[in-house]
Amino acid sequence: TAVLAVASEAFPLIKTGGLADVVGALPAALARQGVAVRTLLPGYPAVMAALHDGEAFFRFDDLFGGPATLIAGEAKGLDVIAIDAPHLYARPGSPYVGPDGRDWPDNGFRFAALGKVAAEIGRGAAGLPAPDVVHLHDWQAGLAPAYLAYGPGPRPKTVATIHNIAFQGWFPSTLLGALGLPDHALTIDGVEYFGGIGFLKAALKFADRITTVSPTYAAEILEPEGGVGLEGLLSARAADVVGILNGIDVEVWNPETDVDLPAPFSAQTPGGRAASRGALLARFGLAPAAGLIFGVISRLSSQKGLDLLADAIPTLLDLGGSLALVGSGEPALEARFRDLAARHAGRIGVFIGYDERLAHLVQAGSDAILVPSRFEPCGLTQLCALRYGALPVVSRVGGLADTVIDANPMALAAGVATGVQFNPVSRSALETALRRTALLYADGRAWAQCQANAMRADVSWDASAKAYAELYASLAR
Ligand code: ADP
Ligand code: GLC
Repeated sequence: TAVLAVASEAFPLIKTGGLADVVGALPAALARQGVAVRTLLPGYPAVMAALHDGEAFFRFDDLFGGPATLIAGEAKGLDVIAIDAPHLYARPGSPYVGPDGRDWPDNGFRFAALGKVAAEIGRGAAGLPAPDVVHLHDWQAGLAPAYLAYGPGPRPKTVATIHNIAFQGWFPSTLLGALGLPDHALTIDGVEYFGGIGFLKAALKFADRITTVSPTYAAEILEPEGGVGLEGLLSARAADVVGILNGIDVEVWNPETDVDLPAPFSAQTPGGRAASRGALLARFGLAPAAGLIFGVISRLSSQKGLDLLADAIPTLLDLGGSLALVGSGEPALEARFRDLAARHAGRIGVFIGYDERLAHLVQAGSDAILVPSRFEPCGLTQLCALRYGALPVVSRVGGLADTVIDANPMALAAGVATGVQFNPVSRSALETALRRTALLYADGRAWAQCQANAMRADVSWDASAKAYAELYASLAR
């Protein structure tokens, strides 16, 4: 099967979150299943700079306000098609916001272009043979199936994957004509959404299949709270919605070969974690302590529930715990954690910013990784934590519910637990989870068993790549 993946981010080229990790890792995993993936990306400066032996193979004279060239090539291990359209993408920094932190005012055009080009390649009208399947990720690629539906045939099959339904890509209806969509598209059976144009809505309306990144999230988005306005449409298409769990790149995340750790370790030699634990204490200015070291690696946004952790800090400290946090995002939360670190020097250390290498050390050196999300489509940090033997302490939502086996009495007796879950997502439930984690830690044998289970858990892409490959094959038939 030949697949065109369409996305606005791909690790290691451009990343703001887990979407990039998934788009970056899935092609190699799918190649092992006999699926050939090319990834269509906006030609941001970072993408253009990474392209090797790029070959320009198609030109649009006017792609929403300027010319665009499609360039195929290899970029950091990915088989990429870049949309070289300087008027849309030649801007440094974030793919979504300007230096003032606000969305680029022309984001409607910037990402409509992504969908438009995907549709042209999809129907074989852009100088390449048509792929069997166009697989689009999140709202930024969402117009692709709409352009296919309103344009001339032939049409490839389409899969839309929801990584986070909270981001829906809404734009005013006045853009309709400029985006090249017909007037009759502006209805409930078209791209219309709350009086405007919904990019994700269009994807969910027109894609042949809808996937999301965990089975529990697939169920949650059919409910009003989880669907954020799209629950009705999704419920009507429930038979076409499936949850396929994310994996992680187990080469990038491998404690036996990780160059960012002072010493390697594995499930057979977990004692090797001690060196990372020591390095973590030193790096975050934490006092060597016998107590639990909790780690956090996260965007600081209300999704991630870290305000609840800030509230629960007195309990964490009472239990003898320390905290090492790497994160960036909402200024108020950044300030709150900076302030906590200043007031509890030696017990709380924070790095405000984005640091991929530091994230590896936190995974390797922490005893437990906290993920108290209010909602979490899949979540990748808890998967990395399992692999690195830091027990995940997570809210029981979305993919966190599907990937961590709570250390309840039955799971402990059966010897299968890998972490701690809590619900509801509240301060007091989080505090209870912190207490349960401390009790587990105090029972050295039980802790070691959970840690061994965690490190042996399969967090690779193997099973899920197979599921995607089967989905593509069933559509292509
Ligand atoms: P989301 O995509 O919602 O942010 P995920 O858990 O799916 O959440 O993916 C987050 C990814 O970004 C993980 O690979 C995580 O390690 C990484 N990450 C998040 N914040 C930081 C940070 N401040 N520094 C380094 N890596 C980070
Ligand atoms: C989104 C979600 C996260 C998921 C990631 C990759 O960013 O917030 O839960 O892991 O996409 O699918």
